[in-house]
Amino acid sequence: MRTVSVRLGDRSYEIVVGAGLLARLGEFCGGLDLGRRCGVITDDRVAGHWLGLVVESLRGGGFDPVVVTVPAGERAKCWSVVHRCHELLAAGRLERGSFVVALGGGVVGDLGGFVAATYMRGVALVQVPTTLLAQVDSSVGGKVGINLRAGKNLVGAFYQPRLVVADLETLGTLPEREYRSGLAEVVKYGAIADADLFERLEREMEGLLGRELGVLESVVARCCEIKAEVVMEDERESGRRAILNFGHTVGHALEAICGYGRLLHGEAIAIGQVVEGWLSARCIGLERGAVDRLEGLLGRAGLPTRTRWTAARVERLLMAMRSDKKVRDGQVRFVLLSRLGCAEWGHGVGEELVRSVLMGEAV
Ligand code: NAD
Ligand code: GLY
Repeated sequence: MRTVSVRLGDRSYEIVVGAGLLARLGEFCGGLDLGRRCGVITDDRVAGHWLGLVVESLRGGGFDPVVVTVPAGERAKCWSVVHRCHELLAAGRLERGSFVVALGGGVVGDLGGFVAATYMRGVALVQVPTTLLAQVDSSVGGKVGINLRAGKNLVGAFYQPRLVVADLETLGTLPEREYRSGLAEVVKYGAIADADLFERLEREMEGLLGRELGVLESVVARCCEIKAEVVMEDERESGRRAILNFGHTVGHALEAICGYGRLLHGEAIAIGQVVEGWLSARCIGLERGAVDRLEGLLGRAGLPTRTRWTAARVERLLMAMRSDKKVRDGQVRFVLLSRLGCAEWGHGVGEELVRSVLMGEAV
């Protein structure tokens, strides 16, 4: 088991990463000085695999869990589901000193976190991520929220958990496509912040694809360390935290124009990272060979790295990017790589250049 500390003053917490940790959840929560009663928010797929173990472990630790199960999928990140969760927590007599356990992928983490942040003006939150994406990204750093018709994650809060428990054994039941989608975020950490991690991923991709627990433990913990370092420096994304969005400017727009759900998030940001790698080569001199390595590694992870760019599709993408939260002074802002392991944020890139890169290179 590895432990990563997120030091944020009185909002500090630990991330524990390892195999077989769900059975120790009650013990871990027992060290946090929390009330006996807790709400476990999960989705109907995760529940079938892991809820029994979590409830048993919490009871064994002396807690009294109330379970709230929501439908699996992005659509659960909405007001009506938040409202239902609040009502069920109140019916289960959760109090100010109670806590919420979010057991699931990024959807349950964002939703459950938002419910915890708002129930009785905030109760403690324990994140128990069960997808690779949630273990390396969404459960860490405190962004919680839900979607509006107008767009994803438009309502939310920064609300740090009291603890993150990433049990690698839960990844054993994750569908292959979801697992590979999470690998896009893993590759991203190497690309933006750690050239050694990137090289390690090049060497150990087979072990990762085989979900070998030893490889997973050190890689997931390293990704959490990188995210923790970034969040500790810039919790509210006024600067450096933006580097976590490498590949996401193009990736989010691509998800939007393809229709959410067609491309998984990780698939869209794999293509986005390659496009933003080309932009990095054109704008700040990233070596062409580095873009090839990035594309090669994402491809070995079983992710798409290119899509067919017609002129009409490029225009739709540019339009979607214009409504992105990252637009400033009328220019879309990108995270670019100066080399593998080193990212710069806030680069304004003109639409002409984006158009020419997409039409010229993405073939
Ligand atoms: P998800 O939560 O929808 O999970 C994907 C699918 O896998 C779901 O069907 C789920 O039921 C199933 N699943 C989860 N764990 C499983 C397991 N162990 N075994 C079997 N099935 C399992 O998707 P995700 O990719 O984890 O998260 C995507 C969400 O995360 C998006 O809403 C995105 O906005 C959010 N996100 C948030 C942050 C943040 O910082 N808060 C960062 C990145 C992404
Ligand atoms: N997923 C990006 C962030 O947490 O800032």
